[in-house]
Amino acid sequence: MTIDVAFTPAGLGKDEVAGRAVFVIDILRATTVVCAALHHGAKGVIPVGSVEDAIKMAQVLGPAQVVLAGERQGLPIAGFGLGNSPLEMVPPAVDGKTIVMTTTNGTGALLATSGAAAVYLAAAVNLTVAGAQLRQAVAAGLPVVIVCAGREGRFGIDDAYAAGRLALEGLGDPRRVPGDLPDATVAAIDLARRYGSSWRRPLRQSAAGRHLKALGMAGDVDRSAEQDRYPVLPQFVDRRVVAAPVP
Ligand code: MLT
Repeated sequence: MTIDVAFTPAGLGKDEVAGRAVFVIDILRATTVVCAALHHGAKGVIPVGSVEDAIKMAQVLGPAQVVLAGERQGLPIAGFGLGNSPLEMVPPAVDGKTIVMTTTNGTGALLATSGAAAVYLAAAVNLTVAGAQLRQAVAAGLPVVIVCAGREGRFGIDDAYAAGRLALEGLGDPRRVPGDLPDATVAAIDLARRYGSSWRRPLRQSAAGRHLKALGMAGDVDRSAEQDRYPVLPQFVDRRVVAAPVP
């Protein structure tokens, strides 16, 4: 069995993802936001790399069905209908809509997975569902890699802790962790054990969490810490993220 962890997408080449089941985590906040949007009826989320690409995509798809969403430096983007807060992803804003999204780290991490056998999005808000899918991938003999978005190419405790929690969830019995896991997975699991089961502490202590608090968005951090609040399985397929059947 292989469950590997990449603490950032930097250096993630085709060989690291080819033929693997990839689980992307940007708990603060992109993957949490996508879960909230799909849970509340969004048809899909299209991740793009830049503000310009988002505007072009909305023009191609037709503005009536599309909502632009995202952030730069954590703040909403001028002219976009939505920012990057899970609290904004409520049915009146997203139900039946396609969301075109660009964020600083999360959408880039997703776009770095091309060539994977399957790509799913994970966060605390869908931990149980994502863990079940990870177990299914392992049972099918697919190597797994958990990709943390990190922060501007650097390690983030929030995503690394979440990677450890997801790996433990995927392994099933946390008392029986195989001895041959890659070092990065062992480190992520150690971090998960260090903080225990409360999501709030690692999220609030992380640089991303402190940044959001400084912007007056501590509510986003707390919502992102609510385990299984949005029990959906976002899958990135054909350049858009849609809700896959829950395993
Ligand atoms: C990102 O993609 O970098 C994050 O989602 C940032 C944020 O939410 O502020």
